Amino acid sequence: MTNPTPEQTTQTSDSILIVDFGSQVTQLIARRVREAGVYSEIAPFNAAKEAFARMNPAGVILSGSPASVLDENGPRIPAEILDSGLPMLGICYGQQSLMHQLGGEVLSGDSGEFGRAFIEIGDDCALFDGLWAKGESHQVWMSHGDKVTSLAPGFRPVAASPGAPFAVIANDEKRIYAMQFHPEVVHTPDGGKLLKNFVRHVCGLSGDWTMAEFRKTKIEEIRAQVGNKRVICGLSGGVDSAVAALLIHEAIGDQLTCVFVDGGVLRMGEAEQVVSLFRGHYNIPLVHVDASTLFLKGLEGVTDPEAKRKFIGKTFIDVFEDEAKKIGGAEFLAQGTLYPDVIESVSFTGGPSVTIKSHHNVGGLPERMNMKLVEPLRELFKDEVRVLGRELGLPDVFVGRHPFPGPGLAIRIPGEVTRERCDILRKADAIYLEEIRNAGLYDAIWQAFAVLLPVKTVGVMGDGRTYDSVCALRAVTSTDGMTADIYPFDAGFLSRVATRIINEVKGINRVVYDYTSKPPGTIEWE
Ligand code: XMP
Repeated sequence: MTNPTPEQTTQTSDSILIVDFGSQVTQLIARRVREAGVYSEIAPFNAAKEAFARMNPAGVILSGSPASVLDENGPRIPAEILDSGLPMLGICYGQQSLMHQLGGEVLSGDSGEFGRAFIEIGDDCALFDGLWAKGESHQVWMSHGDKVTSLAPGFRPVAASPGAPFAVIANDEKRIYAMQFHPEVVHTPDGGKLLKNFVRHVCGLSGDWTMAEFRKTKIEEIRAQVGNKRVICGLSGGVDSAVAALLIHEAIGDQLTCVFVDGGVLRMGEAEQVVSLFRGHYNIPLVHVDASTLFLKGLEGVTDPEAKRKFIGKTFIDVFEDEAKKIGGAEFLAQGTLYPDVIESVSFTGGPSVTIKSHHNVGGLPERMNMKLVEPLRELFKDEVRVLGRELGLPDVFVGRHPFPGPGLAIRIPGEVTRERCDILRKADAIYLEEIRNAGLYDAIWQAFAVLLPVKTVGVMGDGRTYDSVCALRAVTSTDGMTADIYPFDAGFLSRVATRIINEVKGINRVVYDYTSKPPGTIEWE
């Protein structure tokens, strides 16, 4: 391990830098490293030099990439990192770039290798300690076109697959290891353990980065940042802002005021839950603003999804700003920003990425109000926030909640949003979620919700004709919301929910189930 310079914190000198060359799964590397009890940060390859100098990491992991090292303009490992003498682990493109830059050879494969493969362990190596032994065969996940065809000096092969003779290579003296497959994905069943061996055995880290430790460090940091000044935190009803508020409250007590803007587009019982939890349970100063009339008035006649989102985002900021002024004198604004929002995405095309939906957050507020930000969750992934929430005593039902979008039910009511339609949807949604909880399925689903369609259909109830709205049910599994698969309920479950909704919710006479994965669909309907 390198010695920290005086201005560096102990946390960063015990950390791992992950250089992102643009793989879809780079975030998973960070997850696995943290699961091994080691703090890690991701930096895009073109900002890796600065991150390396700032973090003074104990080791470096090089990610995969859609690029080719054979491309003259393909991303490269910065010389400062390559020559640092620190332990390195190259994954897929990371392996190829190590070989390319250290004197080995990489060729463009004609066929490539994609999906499950089996590798033969040819020799011992530090990555395999206590895990894999010579002569064994193990499942891994391959996804590569190019491949290494000759090794740089000092490297030896330690595992091979039919398509990749250098599936794992090692240079023990320099503590550089590399693999053609992806250890970070679940389809490499021992991948987490390989990464753990790298950070613990090769880099020599102790693996004592825990949520309890994080909580202690953050509380000190918040106190140091805020001093005796005041902080305002906007609660959305979601987990992230709640956890951020609890952590800050633990650090600075009543210097924190929470503001909960209720725009009338929340789920059943949500506002009451937030108020009773914060005021009643935690005794945290909370301003609850019922702005439903303002929001619903403004949504009258608005049917375009982006117009809804923009209006809600802007109105939220207006109301929040008014309340903040009333409280007076707060210098800091707290936000529950998470790590995935902070990581810069790597683009090889150079063009801006397409805006599919403008997500609603309090962007723009700090500048407008001239406030400084307190973002204690910036380094955490969603499930780490949940662990921290439990540490802080947030009840399980709150911590385990499905994500809910900022614009709320407004984007689950295609067409015009009215108070009446919000009420109808709230009832249907509550029944659906109650049934999901009763069936013990809530935690197996990333997000489940009802959508109220602007379509009326004819039905028959009792002896009478009905002409009412259609309700669509959506449920998806996902790990990060970026891609999603539909949840395969059994027919009995769906028909039970449909019957209850049609019987109990006036205004709905037909229920359908949404069978669209993401892509091509998005999770929300608007
Ligand atoms: P989509 O619909 O884009 O959603 O597939 C992906 C995830 O993001 C959530 N979502 C939002 N969250 N503000 C948020 O805080 C928003 O404006 C917003 N729009 C979508 C969505 O619920 C899903 O989890």
